[in-house]
Amino acid sequence: MGFYTHLECTRCGRAVEGFRYSCPSCGSALEARYDLEAAKEALDRAPLGSRRDRSMWRYAELLPPEPENVVSLGEGFTPLIRSARIGGSLGLRGLMLKLDFENPTGSFKDRGASVMISMAKQLGFGEAVLDSSGNAASSISAYSARLGIECFIFVPDYASEGKLVQSSAYGAKAFRIKGTRSDAYRAANYARERFGWYYCGFQTNPFAIEGPKTIAFEILEQLDWRAPDWIIIPVGTGSGLLGIYKGIEELRAIGMIDGSPALVCVQPEGCCPIAKALREGSDDVEPVDRPETIAEGLMIGSPLNGSRAIEAVRDTGGVGEIVSDREIFEAGAELAGREGLFVEPSAAASLAGAKKLVEEGTADPGDIMVCVLTGIGLKTKTAYADLSKIPTIPPIGEELEAALGKVRPRRF
Ligand SMILES: Cc1ncc(COP(=O)(O)O)c(C=O)c1O
Ligand SMILES: [Zn+2]
Repeated sequence: MGFYTHLECTRCGRAVEGFRYSCPSCGSALEARYDLEAAKEALDRAPLGSRRDRSMWRYAELLPPEPENVVSLGEGFTPLIRSARIGGSLGLRGLMLKLDFENPTGSFKDRGASVMISMAKQLGFGEAVLDSSGNAASSISAYSARLGIECFIFVPDYASEGKLVQSSAYGAKAFRIKGTRSDAYRAANYARERFGWYYCGFQTNPFAIEGPKTIAFEILEQLDWRAPDWIIIPVGTGSGLLGIYKGIEELRAIGMIDGSPALVCVQPEGCCPIAKALREGSDDVEPVDRPETIAEGLMIGSPLNGSRAIEAVRDTGGVGEIVSDREIFEAGAELAGREGLFVEPSAAASLAGAKKLVEEGTADPGDIMVCVLTGIGLKTKTAYADLSKIPTIPPIGEELEAALGKVRPRRF
């Protein structure tokens, strides 16, 4: 027996029976609720430290599906490592990196996809549909394949080929929609209403944030239940940020932690509606008509849950950070070249945000900061090095000698 009880409206608090995408009274977003007392007792009976499950399903008490409906590819429980080199040069002792690109399809979206598709099984849906800039499409396509249901995806025409290739390999039927993410959303929504498909968009499916919630559980468990000072999250729709916030709230409610890390919402200069409102102390999310940035996962001009994201950040004492494409690019190059971590620009934005926090003097050198690295670098075309500088030469001979002559070996 699971401990999920029902969906509840985030604005008017109405409890909703069964499954819906929004509140029947006020139209606001819904969130999953649990019998937290019972979940806590179950966690006390079988402590996390004794559990064998090395996926996010080790926290099954606080996830919505019944055990027999779980659709999993082993997602979650990703490494949390210390960045000695980058952290050191920033004067930070506790810069930690959450390697969430080490998920089955290469991004943190697998967490939400695993929960949503498990609920598709529980609710008896035969088709999944969503709009996505790419990673979410890859994730929902993979988990739909795992369950054996149809998957329809609507992507904006700028979506990276790597992500489309991946979704198509999983058997999804893809549609490239001319225009922005909002246009893809309109198309997906139209199809959902017309055919009654299960909508797996990360902005409106109430189960979406139950997945990224486990990022918070894992970070806390990996730090022996001592809250870090900061968790730095790249934000597009805000599903990652809202999930992490909800996870912290639930841990506090069951008494696993005191206090809260401050959540940092990082967005690129070319599309920063939430971070801008946070910095200006405003409650209004001004839509961005033409998002432009190398961080394609963060190009959400009109985030539907923008106000909730703002409240979440403020509630934790966090801040918004705006980073330029150049800063994102440099952070990506640094993660690859100095730590061996190849992530896409949308993920590198979190390190760029961490640097800003330090430069501004918002964070102290003794702070523990966790950057969530959300997606792998293999799917996007951004090369952090100049490929034209790689020599093409015959195996043996003068040209090889000349090329090797430029190498300066170094010993440790
Ligand atoms: C790699 C990566 N990082 C961050 C995000 C932003 O996540 P969210 O839309 O949950 O705010 C995305 C969204 O697609 C992404 O693909
Ligand atoms: Zn309501």
